[in-house]
Amino acid sequence: MAASHGRHARARAGAEAVLNVLGLSCYFHDSAAALLRDGILVAAAEEERFTRKKHDYEFPQHAIDFCLRQAGLAATDVDYVVFFEKPFVKFERLLIAGLATFPRSYKVFREAMITWLGDKLWIRHLIQKRLGIAADRIFFSEHHLSHAASAFFCSPFHEAAILTVDGVGEWTTASLGVGRGTDITLLKEIRFPHSLGLLYSAFTAFLGFEVNEGEYKVMGMAPFGTPRYVDKVWKLIRVGKDGAFELDMEYFSFHHSTDRTFNTKFVDLFGAPRDPRANFFTPVSGYPSYFGDRPENFDALARDNQHYADIAASIQKVTEEVLLTMARAAYEETGLTRLCMAGGVALNSVANGRIIRETPFEELYVHPAAGDGGAAVGAALYGYHTILGKARGFVMEHAAWGEAHGPDATERFLRESGIRYERIEDEDRLITRVVDRLQSGKVVGWSQGRFEWGPRALGHRSILADPRRADMKDIVNTKIKFREPFRPFAPSVLAERAEDYFDLPSAARHFPARFMLYVVDVKPDKRAVLPAITHVDGTGRLQTVQRETNPRYYRLIETFGQATGVPVVLNTSFNLKGEPIVNTPAEAYNTFSKSGMDVLVLGECVVEKSDRA
Ligand SMILES: [Fe+2]
Repeated sequence: MAASHGRHARARAGAEAVLNVLGLSCYFHDSAAALLRDGILVAAAEEERFTRKKHDYEFPQHAIDFCLRQAGLAATDVDYVVFFEKPFVKFERLLIAGLATFPRSYKVFREAMITWLGDKLWIRHLIQKRLGIAADRIFFSEHHLSHAASAFFCSPFHEAAILTVDGVGEWTTASLGVGRGTDITLLKEIRFPHSLGLLYSAFTAFLGFEVNEGEYKVMGMAPFGTPRYVDKVWKLIRVGKDGAFELDMEYFSFHHSTDRTFNTKFVDLFGAPRDPRANFFTPVSGYPSYFGDRPENFDALARDNQHYADIAASIQKVTEEVLLTMARAAYEETGLTRLCMAGGVALNSVANGRIIRETPFEELYVHPAAGDGGAAVGAALYGYHTILGKARGFVMEHAAWGEAHGPDATERFLRESGIRYERIEDEDRLITRVVDRLQSGKVVGWSQGRFEWGPRALGHRSILADPRRADMKDIVNTKIKFREPFRPFAPSVLAERAEDYFDLPSAARHFPARFMLYVVDVKPDKRAVLPAITHVDGTGRLQTVQRETNPRYYRLIETFGQATGVPVVLNTSFNLKGEPIVNTPAEAYNTFSKSGMDVLVLGECVVEKSDRA
């Protein structure tokens, strides 16, 4: 296509013409960029990893620069840019929704107009200006089509059903489609304001957590509760056998308010919202030392919190039921045995674990960056396959698409900062050292190769510890994370050994488990073996590690397994609470020195706390 194009002529001068497609997602939640060369993903990263602003949604200039750097390209080498959604359609939704709820919506309407009449509507012009690309080389996908493409075109499947579920795109909040070869057909959709993502977010806010950030906390809190309020939650949402659902908008205010997602009728139903500043603990979770002194009225406070845990359990349960109904309907509708999923709600790994166990689908693929960042990859793939009609040749087998920092850059940083370190080029020695430290109860910062795509750390920017120690959860929390005591830590396990510890038959072939997107039962006889990663309900959010895609991490876990008999490590993301996951050696070192981490491994370089001056 467009072989006579000037850009191609330039590209051909050196080598065979390669088609470079840049996908962009921004101005909503997590902005990101992704670059395809002849349909093969070369780089993808979220803007927050460069600007250090969590969930940065601005134009992803740093992420674009990184993608180009990684590919050795200049902006002028980009053939096509694909934006992840249609700005005018979204603008129309805001206008119509704003007018329908006027004057209640006056504030949200006014704020939306100001931002939309600023940058957002003029995204084509902005991309033109920033990248120096012709207007006719800029395509617009649709929000849910981008999510769908991110899942289906990254999957190994030639044919699959596709479910996308999130807060809201242009109008769509959920869609059911079919992918075949290079085509995606969306068969059904659910439209704003009826949204499973926004329902979950309303409860996230009600439970005192930040929307688009605290959804994991609701999921982690749920197993501490009993779903005794499901009947009340079912008053808010109705779902048909065909998977179509509807919210009762009487209870919500997200469609006309910028700062409240639920209203007084919601509060009448569930009681007062949880104070976001209050510590959360239940009789079962106990009171962690990093909260300070145990309050005298612990029992009363724990009882109060139990009510909120029960609400978390109830919304989680209803969400799972709705997703299961949607998945079963997708199976009925398509008759296909494979399912691809994306959209923020597809990060609900508890629900995903139930979908693979309880529906007729035999295989699942969930995009590792299922939220809006991931739509940058989806948009690029949609442009390449569906708009340009090019064949598929890519499967996303791992999530290491971010920036790497080589040994020279790492040593330069350490030397210039006057940090004592040891460079251990022999991998056996390096790994033996780390295993020794893990076994003696040390907490290890582990930064290797390219950082991960999506919200999970998968052994490239991870904090590691010994999962066999019951006290390790508290140690990691006290030293580093200061997370709520109800949030579980995840296990990384050798793919071939996963079935020994987790209830996931043929674990190695499940892609979502590679991306930490399934929660499954820890085998009953292994729960006492792995206390630090077993959640209160006996589950674990496992990551299976493949030798081919993450060889050094694999060898580390393998060696830990040889030393201890347990080929599993505790893996949590390499960041301090509230900060984006680290990228550079400097960021890793800063996090290491500000926390109680004992050992830092930057590629081949090892820094130990006791070594420091
Ligand atoms: Fe989305």
